[in-house]
Amino acid sequence: ADPDPLQDFCVADLNATISLNGFPCKPAALVTSDDFFFDGLSKEANTTTIFGAVVSLGNVITFPGLNTLGISMNRVDFAPGGLNPPHSHPRATESGVVIEGKLLVGFITTNNVFYSKVLSAGQMFVIPRGLVHFQLNVGKGKALAFTAFNSHLPGAVVVPTTLFASPPAIPNQVLAKAFQVDNDLINTIKSKFGS
Ligand code: GLV
Ligand code: MN
Repeated sequence: ADPDPLQDFCVADLNATISLNGFPCKPAALVTSDDFFFDGLSKEANTTTIFGAVVSLGNVITFPGLNTLGISMNRVDFAPGGLNPPHSHPRATESGVVIEGKLLVGFITTNNVFYSKVLSAGQMFVIPRGLVHFQLNVGKGKALAFTAFNSHLPGAVVVPTTLFASPPAIPNQVLAKAFQVDNDLINTIKSKFGS
């Protein structure tokens, strides 16, 4: 979903003081092989989090060599029962492959139709751009997946934290009305996210 590049590469200078739609290029004379390789997805993440799943990001911020090239990749580690919670990527379609374990992968369309399937090692999925989706580890052991995006910075709108953990908080009145529940329940949910 990103625009096409206008040159072979444009390794991001993340420290540039100018602001533009993307990142300026590091001077070519300073570019080395290391700019085009990244080992940030090589390690299993510690999944003792509230969701029991952790996304390790291989995007333009962590891997500046991706700048302007229109692609990126994540690693997602799951504890047994772990959930990568419902979220959407405003700037990219996502594809993914399960490496280990069993994942229930699902997304919901703008017409409110839910599509899902349980996948095991070697099986792939696709999440159309912008749609809300999740992955749940439904196997006995841990699970691992890699995901790929047609943006160097897909962005992620994580539904539970977007709605219940924003600084500043969304007024309870809005959330109580939206979910048709009372104020106390909204406070309970907010408290789970430390807000
Ligand atoms: C999985 O959904 C991911 O965004 O990496
Ligand atoms: Mn995703």
